Amino acid sequence: MSTARSATVWAIRYGLPGLVIRAAARRGDLISRLVADPALRAHPYAGYDQLRALGELVSNRLVSATATHRVANRILRDELFLADPGSGGNGLLDRVLTAAIDPKALGPVDPPSLLTLHPPDHTRIRGLVSRAFTPRAIAGLTRRIREVADDLLDRIEAGPGTFDLVETYAAPLPVTVIAEILGVPTAMRADFLRWGNEAAATLDPDLRWREFRRADRALRAVNGWSVEHLASLRREPGDNLLSRLVHLDDNGDRLTDVELRSTGLLLLGAGFETTVNLIGNGVALLLEHPDQLAALRADPSGWANAVEEVLRYDSPVQLTLRVAGEATEVAGRSVPAGRGVVVLLGGANRDPEVFTDPHVFDITRANARDHLAFSAGIHYCLGAQLARLEATIALRALFERFDLRLTGTPHRLRTRVLRGYRRLPLSRTPGA
Ligand code: HEM
Repeated sequence: MSTARSATVWAIRYGLPGLVIRAAARRGDLISRLVADPALRAHPYAGYDQLRALGELVSNRLVSATATHRVANRILRDELFLADPGSGGNGLLDRVLTAAIDPKALGPVDPPSLLTLHPPDHTRIRGLVSRAFTPRAIAGLTRRIREVADDLLDRIEAGPGTFDLVETYAAPLPVTVIAEILGVPTAMRADFLRWGNEAAATLDPDLRWREFRRADRALRAVNGWSVEHLASLRREPGDNLLSRLVHLDDNGDRLTDVELRSTGLLLLGAGFETTVNLIGNGVALLLEHPDQLAALRADPSGWANAVEEVLRYDSPVQLTLRVAGEATEVAGRSVPAGRGVVVLLGGANRDPEVFTDPHVFDITRANARDHLAFSAGIHYCLGAQLARLEATIALRALFERFDLRLTGTPHRLRTRVLRGYRRLPLSRTPGA
């Protein structure tokens, strides 16, 4: 039964679109190549420039796409554009997909995920969780994040002179922090990382059956674990976000069981799957640009802006999708109801209309913070402040402790939506 459901979800969400995308890519359609061509997957930025040169909004027979900052920003903020791919109005296929989604294998973009909900449900759920992510609440975590970073650095120092940055530092730091905020056992962080890495593939538009099966198994495992864990918090609450959500009082807004599980798992996954890439991309970029690293060592007040520039220059989330809820017009072109628009965040962040010399990595760039790496509008990243703080502390502490050198070829993730490193082999000597 679960295999039949999984196969239906895969066929409608990835299998059929994947066939269409790959066929169009072979015919040279740029939007499809940006998703399916392995060379553009590895180096997407020249492709974004090509797309931008074709227009502010470029369309093929099925979808539209933008790599300009102006149009990306407008679409993300426009309430006519919905984040739920099911709002495409494909009738029968959407209904079959909705019926096939297995509540035991809820993924990051399955309803009722915040990422795809609309108001009023989106507003209600976001309001309940956002209290834990206010600037004040996040600033209160500074000392703890620093402790987590120092502890990981002590372990690296006690280990061999060569190490993989992702495994020993970039991944465990954010997963430990989000686990503590939520109230899930940090001893399980290896499981969370494995489940999260496998499930992250479901964000991509073109996923082979084998990859989907692996992701689906991971989603079943983490959903199963979360049912048990939430039940234990119901019996024995702690001082953490999930306990507060489980015990919301009946008079106020409550979360249903499935909303609670979906929101908890989204926070857990989003809490580390992206920040690991921000830290990894930042280390790689600073090693490629030793002059900028030297400037940061000389004046550590530049770290926060350096993190903004990493977010702009090599965005950990490269794209997102919106669907026109009604017929409308964008950049002088008509957009029919139900049309999907691929918003290339990584392309908007290299738009020369907004960023002078966009392909130059410059940690002192005055408007680096105008990037769209955290999206915009109602789905603007809930964890943006947390991610910024974690990356600023993580990068500064790492480079203050060690001088680093690459010792082998870094391996990129194979995912299209998430951009980062799978492995970043380094050697260390004590910092100056
Ligand atoms: C570098 C790190 C991060 C990046 C680049 C990032 C990026 C994004 C982006 C682009 C979106 C919106 C997607 C869209 O508009 O379709 C988003 C939403 C979200 N992010 Fe992040 N994120 C990061 C870290 C985090 C962290 C640490 C958390 C932990 C709390 C988090 C939680 C969320 C949640 C809950 C949403 C959904 C918000 C909504 O739909 O209302 N993110 N993130």
